[in-house]
Amino acid sequence: MSDAYDVVVIGGGPGGYVCAIRCAQLGFRTACVESRKTLGGTCLNVGCIPSKSLLNLSENYIKAKKFSSIGIETGKVALNLSQMMKIKEKSVTVLTKGVEFLLKKNKVDYIKGKASLKSNTEIIVEKNKSKKVYAAKNIVISTGSLPTSLPGMQIDEKNIVSSTGALSFNQVPKKLIIIGGGYIGLEMGSVWKRLGSDVTIIEFLDHIITGADVEISKEFLKILTKQGIIFKLNSIVTAANVIKNKVVVDFRHNKTAERTRVKTDKVLIAVGRRPNTEGLNLKEISIKNDSKGKIQVNKKFMTSIKNIYAIGDVIDGPMLAHKAEEEGIAVAEIIAGQSGHVNYEAIPGVIYTSPEVASVGKTEEALKKENIKYKIGKFPFMANPRAKVINETEGFVKILANEETDKILGVHMIGPHVGDLIAEISLAIEFGASSEDIARTCHAHPTYSEAVKEAALSVDKRPIHS
Ligand code: NAI
Repeated sequence: MSDAYDVVVIGGGPGGYVCAIRCAQLGFRTACVESRKTLGGTCLNVGCIPSKSLLNLSENYIKAKKFSSIGIETGKVALNLSQMMKIKEKSVTVLTKGVEFLLKKNKVDYIKGKASLKSNTEIIVEKNKSKKVYAAKNIVISTGSLPTSLPGMQIDEKNIVSSTGALSFNQVPKKLIIIGGGYIGLEMGSVWKRLGSDVTIIEFLDHIITGADVEISKEFLKILTKQGIIFKLNSIVTAANVIKNKVVVDFRHNKTAERTRVKTDKVLIAVGRRPNTEGLNLKEISIKNDSKGKIQVNKKFMTSIKNIYAIGDVIDGPMLAHKAEEEGIAVAEIIAGQSGHVNYEAIPGVIYTSPEVASVGKTEEALKKENIKYKIGKFPFMANPRAKVINETEGFVKILANEETDKILGVHMIGPHVGDLIAEISLAIEFGASSEDIARTCHAHPTYSEAVKEAALSVDKRPIHS
């Protein structure tokens, strides 16, 4: 194994490329194998980045239509979808090229092709029907996830699409039905609603964003309904069939059993993602899966084979790019004999709609279930001067702190720029801070962040501005 790599990372998404860079920083001879044409994984190519680009562009379109209400007179505002798509593609290209540059800069070998495991120290990489074997002392599997479909429904990326297809419609669908009221459904639903589609979201549960703090979920539902998105909660889709370039969707109410049939132009299936482990040869070399089909790892991200690790969407936990990145860094440090770790209590979740939704730590419902006594501090953006001036007053900040120690247990926000405000809370949780710590920290005026300080003051029932 003298010419073996110290580490070969399979997958060049946020988990994989970050892991490879950290490995190289630590002095390992590292390679990163990627089968897609460009680096960056789902996140950069067909996920976070193109969706945020479209969310931003569509938000600007909506704002431009209302310019005259703020004293800016323009001609008729018209949509140029193909230009928007070009801008989105450009953002993707710039960022994926950026990752390639970073690998080069850090002297990580970028191997193009589809990898599978030959043994616990050998990887076969297949490209254009030719195969090459690479030796590796350590292997990190970071192959991400793929969209899930529903029984009997075929994603063709034309009429019935996954998030990938929904990022590239070449015209605005008149009617769009989305199955699933989670992250993807709500973000893509917002994009196409803003661009002119009639959007209906069919969700199996009686609420949107499964696992979210219920108060936030209810407020979010109210706001999105006001924006014109139609929700069919408590409903299960039983069939979606393409007939003459339209899709006929059948769904049934879970409680009343009432059946509905609707015709639509496009259907987006957004009911979750599954780990992407097919073709890796995991079974053959005895790598075990957990009950959810994810690769089973111990606290050190080690699979059932001691020099093979797994991170990101292929293992348990939220399927989030930043979670995968943290795991990538931790595993590199663990391979180097350091004590890399991930604090799962401090991983934020953000939905980039308008307003944004952000949370970190435990929900009120989880605290109740775990019998943990807590105090609540809440502050509405309606009372935040910056939000008032900019007329973005929807939503609130909710802080949950331990009743006895005042330690912050969870924070949930809906409102302007909360996706950025949440960083303060992740840091607070990482440092074991109390709500009093936040309340006594000076926050610049006038900023949205003052709503966080006021919510912290409210935990002790002493807000100044409400
Ligand atoms: P999700 O897990 O967020 O939501 C799926 C929703 O579909 C759930 O509410 C579920 O109850 C519902 N559902 C499941 N089966 C159904 C059925 N048969 N009929 C109706 N509803 C059904 O999954 P989503 O939105 O597909 O996202 C996949 C992953 O991608 C998530 O884990 C998310 O973390 C990640 N993601 C993160 C983003 C972000 O960080 N902003 C953006 C987009 C995706």
